[in-house]
Amino acid sequence: MRLVSTKSLNENACLAKPIINDNGQVLLQQGVPLTSRMIQRLIELGITFVYIEDELTADVGAKEGISDEVRFRAIGTIKSEFNEICDDLKLKKSFHNARLNQNFAKVIRSILSEVKNNPKALSLLSDVYLYDSYIFTHSLNVTVYTLALALELKFNEKQLMEIGMGAILHDVGKMAIPTEILNKPDRLTNEEFSIIKSHAQAGYEILKDQPNISLLTAHCAFQHHERINGSGYPRGIKGDEIHLYAKIIGVCDVFDAVTSNRVYRSAMLPHEALELLYSGVGTLYDKEIVEAFRNTIAMYPVGITVGLSDGREGIVVKQNNELSTRPVVRIICEDDQKVAPYEVDLMKHVNVTITKCETVLASEKVNN
Ligand SMILES: [Fe+2]
Repeated sequence: MRLVSTKSLNENACLAKPIINDNGQVLLQQGVPLTSRMIQRLIELGITFVYIEDELTADVGAKEGISDEVRFRAIGTIKSEFNEICDDLKLKKSFHNARLNQNFAKVIRSILSEVKNNPKALSLLSDVYLYDSYIFTHSLNVTVYTLALALELKFNEKQLMEIGMGAILHDVGKMAIPTEILNKPDRLTNEEFSIIKSHAQAGYEILKDQPNISLLTAHCAFQHHERINGSGYPRGIKGDEIHLYAKIIGVCDVFDAVTSNRVYRSAMLPHEALELLYSGVGTLYDKEIVEAFRNTIAMYPVGITVGLSDGREGIVVKQNNELSTRPVVRIICEDDQKVAPYEVDLMKHVNVTITKCETVLASEKVNN
């Protein structure tokens, strides 16, 4: 199977995995040739990348960062807890939920055990589950990235649970923001932007009084948009004034945000998102955190199309755990001519590098 951005899908491509909504209903079946209407619908639904069936890579099974089962259950919990918080905020009731900590701890433990058992570089690009709000998927993805990064930094069990709780609840304050502003497709006015920014403090206010939720978790929500040079918000605190957990969650938050399609812009590929993070090292983000993050994610996920420095093109079929920039590539095109597929392990061919990463081959591009 191949990983293709929905914006570059061609008609007649077939999904390799069905698209399912949060009630478990299949919205688009796998194996059915896509029409331009269906492709448009996928884009409108906010699906960024999909796996499509492909003869040349039929034997390649993409391994998602976490199993569909854990993902489905985790999102269910996030959705019901966040909606409860939202309802209470609307009714101006003060929110107290003694189960909140327990329910999320269960989710974090299940994600953690999968991330631990899957030491391969992480990719969460394709999302086959559809939800009515981006915030649920985003909260889950940030938690998965954060836990993988915290494992890379050798956090102990207690720290993993603490940072996992901070990650899953980092954007809970968005439940206090009107949805028209949160999902506005056009450029935000200054006033609207300052309302969005208030979610950090709102999250802190929601969490700080919850029974069984530590103040540290509340501070993850409060500080995840702070940056080490003081340019962040809400308080503009700097360097070590920002808790390590909040700095880590901040990096994972940016990465997930820019690799997702949003109404106002197209998604970046992982290597582009990482370049963006590197451009902020020393000013916005700590170097050690960005470097550890690079080691945890799949720079070129299995199924993605890449161009090599010698002009060959192919599909990534296997990750090399030691170096995510040098996967195994199945070459299918040389000098714009299709060739019988063969594999090149970039760990063994150090003179060749990946120079392009796209979701379709140059020879497959349609002019539209
Ligand atoms: Fe946020």
